Amino acid sequence: MTDEKTMIQIKDLTRYYKSGMGVVKALDGVSLKIEKGEFIAIMGASGSGKTTMLRILGLLDKPTKGEYTINNLNVVHLPEEERSYYRLTQLGYVFQDYALINEMSASENVYILSLMEGKSKKESISTAHEALVNVGLGDKGKRIPDQLSGGEKQRVAVARAIAKKPKILFADEPCANLDTHTSEQVLDVFKILNEKFGQTIVMVTHEAWHTKYVSRVIKLRDGKIVGDLRRRKN
Ligand SMILES: Nc1ncnc2c1ncn2[C@@H]1O[C@H](COP(=O)(O)OP(=O)(O)O)[C@@H](O)[C@H]1O
Ligand SMILES: [Mg+2]
Repeated sequence: MTDEKTMIQIKDLTRYYKSGMGVVKALDGVSLKIEKGEFIAIMGASGSGKTTMLRILGLLDKPTKGEYTINNLNVVHLPEEERSYYRLTQLGYVFQDYALINEMSASENVYILSLMEGKSKKESISTAHEALVNVGLGDKGKRIPDQLSGGEKQRVAVARAIAKKPKILFADEPCANLDTHTSEQVLDVFKILNEKFGQTIVMVTHEAWHTKYVSRVIKLRDGKIVGDLRRRKN
Protein backbone atom coordinates (compact mmCIF):
# COMPACT_ATOMS: atom_id res chain seq x y z
CA MET A 1 0.00 0.00 0.00
CA THR A 2 1.14 3.53 -0.69
CA ASP A 3 0.06 6.63 1.18
CA GLU A 4 0.23 10.30 0.37
CA LYS A 5 3.79 10.63 1.70
CA THR A 6 5.01 8.11 -0.86
CA MET A 7 6.47 9.51 -4.07
CA ILE A 8 7.96 6.40 -5.62
CA GLN A 9 7.24 2.76 -4.99
CA ILE A 10 8.94 -0.02 -6.90
CA LYS A 11 8.53 -3.74 -6.40
CA ASP A 12 10.71 -6.48 -7.79
CA LEU A 13 11.91 -4.13 -10.53
CA THR A 14 14.02 -6.06 -13.01
CA ARG A 15 15.81 -5.15 -16.23
CA TYR A 16 17.55 -7.75 -18.35
CA TYR A 17 19.60 -6.87 -21.40
CA LYS A 18 20.11 -9.51 -24.04
CA SER A 19 23.56 -9.40 -25.56
CA GLY A 20 25.84 -11.66 -27.58
CA MET A 21 27.21 -13.09 -24.33
CA GLY A 22 23.77 -13.99 -23.02
CA VAL A 23 21.54 -12.11 -20.61
CA VAL A 24 22.82 -9.31 -18.36
CA LYS A 25 20.75 -8.80 -15.21
CA ALA A 26 21.37 -5.06 -14.97
CA LEU A 27 18.63 -4.66 -12.36
CA ASP A 28 17.76 -7.80 -10.47
CA GLY A 29 14.52 -7.55 -8.46
CA VAL A 30 14.74 -4.21 -6.68
CA SER A 31 12.06 -3.06 -4.22
CA LEU A 32 12.05 0.38 -2.66
CA LYS A 33 9.85 3.16 -1.36
CA ILE A 34 10.90 6.81 -1.68
CA GLU A 35 8.99 9.49 0.19
CA LYS A 36 8.24 13.02 -0.95
CA GLY A 37 11.06 15.35 -0.04
CA GLU A 38 13.83 12.76 0.11
CA PHE A 39 17.21 13.46 -1.49
CA ILE A 40 18.50 10.06 -2.59
CA ALA A 41 21.98 9.12 -3.75
CA ILE A 42 22.21 5.90 -5.74
CA MET A 43 25.76 4.62 -5.31
CA GLY A 44 27.69 1.62 -6.52
CA ALA A 45 30.63 0.57 -8.65
CA SER A 46 30.64 1.03 -12.41
CA GLY A 47 28.28 -1.51 -13.97
CA SER A 48 26.24 -2.05 -10.79
CA GLY A 49 23.01 -0.87 -12.45
CA LYS A 50 22.77 2.78 -11.34
CA THR A 51 22.00 4.28 -14.75
CA THR A 52 19.62 1.43 -15.58
CA MET A 53 17.71 2.11 -12.38
CA LEU A 54 17.63 5.89 -12.91
CA ARG A 55 16.43 5.52 -16.50
CA ILE A 56 13.58 3.26 -15.44
CA LEU A 57 12.63 5.52 -12.50
CA GLY A 58 12.74 8.49 -14.91
CA LEU A 59 10.46 6.71 -17.42
CA LEU A 60 13.25 6.76 -20.01
CA ASP A 61 13.25 2.95 -20.14
CA LYS A 62 10.88 0.15 -19.19
CA PRO A 63 11.55 -2.70 -16.78
CA THR A 64 11.55 -6.30 -18.01
CA LYS A 65 9.26 -6.98 -15.07
CA GLY A 66 8.17 -5.45 -11.81
CA GLU A 67 5.90 -2.73 -10.53
CA TYR A 68 6.41 1.02 -10.43
CA THR A 69 4.09 3.71 -9.15
CA ILE A 70 4.65 7.47 -8.84
CA ASN A 71 2.14 9.15 -6.51
CA ASN A 72 0.03 5.99 -6.68
CA LEU A 73 -0.10 6.13 -10.48
CA ASN A 74 0.98 2.90 -12.15
CA VAL A 75 3.50 4.21 -14.69
CA VAL A 76 4.75 0.91 -16.13
CA HIS A 77 1.75 0.30 -18.31
CA LEU A 78 1.04 3.88 -19.40
CA PRO A 79 0.89 4.21 -23.20
CA GLU A 80 4.08 5.75 -24.65
CA GLU A 81 2.34 9.03 -25.48
CA GLU A 82 1.23 9.48 -21.88
CA ARG A 83 4.67 8.52 -20.64
CA SER A 84 6.29 11.27 -22.76
CA TYR A 85 3.73 13.81 -21.62
CA TYR A 86 4.37 12.76 -18.03
CA ARG A 87 8.14 13.13 -18.55
CA LEU A 88 7.73 16.58 -20.10
CA THR A 89 5.36 17.97 -17.48
CA GLN A 90 6.16 16.11 -14.26
CA LEU A 91 9.80 15.01 -14.27
CA GLY A 92 13.10 16.89 -14.45
CA TYR A 93 16.44 15.55 -15.68
CA VAL A 94 20.08 16.53 -15.32
CA PHE A 95 22.74 14.57 -17.18
CA GLN A 96 26.51 14.70 -16.91
CA ASP A 97 27.02 16.45 -20.26
CA TYR A 98 24.57 19.34 -19.48
CA ALA A 99 22.76 18.87 -22.83
CA LEU A 100 22.39 22.61 -23.41
CA ILE A 101 21.79 24.15 -26.84
CA ASN A 102 24.92 26.16 -27.66
CA GLU A 103 23.22 28.75 -29.85
CA MET A 104 20.73 29.72 -27.16
CA SER A 105 21.17 31.88 -24.09
CA ALA A 106 20.91 30.36 -20.62
CA SER A 107 17.43 31.83 -20.28
CA GLU A 108 16.27 30.45 -23.65
CA ASN A 109 17.67 27.02 -22.74
CA VAL A 110 15.53 27.10 -19.62
CA TYR A 111 12.27 28.40 -21.08
CA ILE A 112 12.15 26.35 -24.29
CA LEU A 113 10.59 23.39 -22.43
CA SER A 114 7.91 25.62 -21.01
CA LEU A 115 7.10 26.91 -24.53
CA MET A 116 6.88 23.28 -25.66
CA GLU A 117 4.33 22.71 -22.93
CA GLY A 118 2.23 25.44 -24.50
CA LYS A 119 2.84 28.19 -21.94
CA SER A 120 3.01 31.82 -23.11
CA LYS A 121 6.41 33.38 -23.82
CA LYS A 122 5.93 35.97 -21.09
CA GLU A 123 5.14 33.36 -18.45
CA SER A 124 7.95 31.09 -19.69
CA ILE A 125 10.55 33.87 -19.48
CA SER A 126 9.47 34.83 -16.00
CA THR A 127 9.51 31.20 -14.75
CA ALA A 128 12.95 30.72 -16.34
CA HIS A 129 14.27 33.79 -14.56
CA GLU A 130 12.95 32.53 -11.23
CA ALA A 131 14.63 29.15 -11.81
CA LEU A 132 17.94 30.82 -12.75
CA VAL A 133 17.77 32.93 -9.57
CA ASN A 134 17.23 29.74 -7.56
CA VAL A 135 20.44 28.22 -8.92
CA GLY A 136 22.38 31.45 -8.32
CA LEU A 137 22.50 32.58 -11.96
CA GLY A 138 19.89 35.33 -11.94
CA ASP A 139 22.35 37.74 -13.57
CA LYS A 140 23.64 35.37 -16.28
CA GLY A 141 20.49 34.56 -18.24
CA LYS A 142 21.71 36.32 -21.38
CA ARG A 143 24.97 34.38 -21.65
CA ILE A 144 25.36 31.49 -24.07
CA PRO A 145 26.83 28.21 -22.75
CA ASP A 146 30.33 29.05 -24.12
CA GLN A 147 30.39 32.08 -21.83
CA LEU A 148 29.73 29.97 -18.74
CA SER A 149 31.95 27.67 -16.65
CA GLY A 150 31.20 23.94 -16.41
CA GLY A 151 29.56 24.38 -13.03
CA GLU A 152 27.47 27.28 -14.31
CA LYS A 153 26.38 25.24 -17.34
CA GLN A 154 25.28 22.44 -15.07
CA ARG A 155 23.36 24.91 -12.92
CA VAL A 156 21.57 26.15 -16.07
CA ALA A 157 20.64 22.51 -16.75
CA VAL A 158 19.33 22.27 -13.17
CA ALA A 159 17.33 25.48 -13.68
CA ARG A 160 15.84 23.99 -16.85
CA ALA A 161 14.88 20.84 -14.95
CA ILE A 162 13.26 22.67 -12.02
CA ALA A 163 11.50 25.46 -13.96
CA LYS A 164 8.49 23.18 -14.42
CA LYS A 165 8.50 22.36 -10.69
CA PRO A 166 8.86 18.64 -11.33
CA LYS A 167 7.56 16.00 -8.94
CA ILE A 168 10.98 14.38 -9.04
CA LEU A 169 14.37 15.65 -10.17
CA PHE A 170 16.61 12.92 -11.63
CA ALA A 171 20.35 13.40 -12.04
CA ASP A 172 22.82 10.85 -13.44
CA GLU A 173 26.34 11.70 -12.24
CA PRO A 174 25.72 15.46 -12.56
CA CYS A 175 29.23 16.28 -11.33
CA ALA A 176 31.15 13.76 -13.43
CA ASN A 177 32.69 16.50 -15.60
CA LEU A 178 33.25 19.04 -12.81
CA ASP A 179 36.13 19.73 -10.46
CA THR A 180 35.62 19.55 -6.70
CA HIS A 181 34.85 23.24 -6.26
CA THR A 182 32.22 23.47 -8.99
CA SER A 183 30.80 20.08 -7.93
CA GLU A 184 30.22 21.60 -4.49
CA GLN A 185 28.37 24.54 -6.05
CA VAL A 186 26.07 22.20 -7.98
CA LEU A 187 25.49 19.94 -4.96
CA ASP A 188 24.77 22.99 -2.79
CA VAL A 189 22.05 23.95 -5.28
CA PHE A 190 20.51 20.46 -5.06
CA LYS A 191 20.63 20.62 -1.27
CA ILE A 192 18.95 24.04 -1.15
CA LEU A 193 16.24 22.91 -3.60
CA ASN A 194 15.63 19.89 -1.40
CA GLU A 195 15.64 21.70 1.94
CA LYS A 196 13.98 24.97 0.93
CA PHE A 197 11.40 23.72 -1.58
CA GLY A 198 11.10 20.06 -0.54
CA GLN A 199 12.20 18.97 -4.01
CA THR A 200 12.41 15.18 -4.25
CA ILE A 201 15.75 14.30 -5.85
CA VAL A 202 17.20 11.01 -7.07
CA MET A 203 20.87 11.36 -7.97
CA VAL A 204 23.33 8.76 -9.21
CA THR A 205 26.91 9.28 -8.10
CA HIS A 206 29.99 7.22 -7.39
CA GLU A 207 31.81 9.81 -5.27
CA ALA A 208 31.54 8.96 -1.57
CA TRP A 209 31.95 12.60 -0.48
CA HIS A 210 28.75 13.56 -2.34
CA THR A 211 26.70 11.55 0.15
CA LYS A 212 27.07 14.24 2.80
CA TYR A 213 24.60 16.36 0.81
CA VAL A 214 21.82 13.78 0.66
CA SER A 215 19.26 12.37 3.10
CA ARG A 216 19.52 8.72 2.08
CA VAL A 217 22.04 6.51 0.33
CA ILE A 218 20.98 3.46 -1.68
CA LYS A 219 23.84 1.18 -2.64
CA LEU A 220 23.67 -1.15 -5.61
CA ARG A 221 25.83 -4.15 -6.40
CA ASP A 222 25.24 -6.41 -9.40
CA GLY A 223 21.75 -4.99 -9.89
CA LYS A 224 20.67 -5.52 -6.28
CA ILE A 225 20.25 -3.15 -3.35
CA VAL A 226 22.95 -3.99 -0.81
CA GLY A 227 22.67 -0.88 1.36
CA ASP A 228 20.02 1.64 2.38
CA LEU A 229 21.13 4.30 4.85
CA ARG A 230 19.29 7.38 6.06
CA ARG A 231 21.68 10.22 6.78
CA ARG A 232 19.47 12.90 8.28
CA LYS A 233 15.88 13.48 9.17
CA ASN A 234 13.76 15.10 6.48
N1 LIG B 1 22.03 -1.24 -23.58
C1 LIG B 1 22.67 -2.22 -22.94
N2 LIG B 1 22.85 -3.44 -23.50
C2 LIG B 1 23.47 -4.44 -22.86
N3 LIG B 1 23.98 -4.34 -21.60
C3 LIG B 1 23.83 -3.15 -20.97
C4 LIG B 1 23.19 -2.03 -21.59
N4 LIG B 1 23.20 -0.98 -20.72
C5 LIG B 1 23.82 -1.43 -19.62
N5 LIG B 1 24.21 -2.72 -19.76
C6 LIG B 1 24.88 -3.55 -18.74
O1 LIG B 1 24.09 -3.53 -17.57
C7 LIG B 1 24.90 -3.43 -16.41
C8 LIG B 1 24.52 -2.16 -15.63
O2 LIG B 1 24.86 -1.02 -16.39
P1 LIG B 1 24.59 0.48 -15.89
O3 LIG B 1 23.19 0.56 -15.41
O4 LIG B 1 24.98 1.41 -16.98
O5 LIG B 1 25.58 0.59 -14.64
P2 LIG B 1 26.22 1.86 -13.91
O6 LIG B 1 25.44 3.07 -14.30
O7 LIG B 1 26.13 1.52 -12.46
O8 LIG B 1 27.64 1.93 -14.36
C9 LIG B 1 26.33 -3.44 -16.90
O9 LIG B 1 26.80 -4.76 -16.85
C10 LIG B 1 26.22 -2.97 -18.32
O10 LIG B 1 27.25 -3.46 -19.10
MG1 LIG C 1 26.04 4.96 -15.15
